[in-house]
Amino acid sequence: MNEVTITPNKPIVLELDPGTYYRCTCGKSAKMPFCDGAHTGSDHAPIAFEVKERKQVYLCNCGKTANVPYCDGSCHKA
Ligand code: FES
Repeated sequence: MNEVTITPNKPIVLELDPGTYYRCTCGKSAKMPFCDGAHTGSDHAPIAFEVKERKQVYLCNCGKTANVPYCDGSCHKA
């Protein structure tokens, strides 16, 4: 996977191969936006999601989406 650019309140754009991914929700991962197990011992748990074919995804990075873990455009609404 290429280097990931994360900009506050903008979706994280990634090209992903088929597979199961785990979106970090604790903010402590060294492999953002993915879980690296750093949440262990906390109340947080990663969000698992499946990619069935290679595609570009837009992961929510503002916490307002109704379509977790994907961006639904809520970051652009006032
Ligand atoms: S490291 Fe953050 S949820 Fe697992």
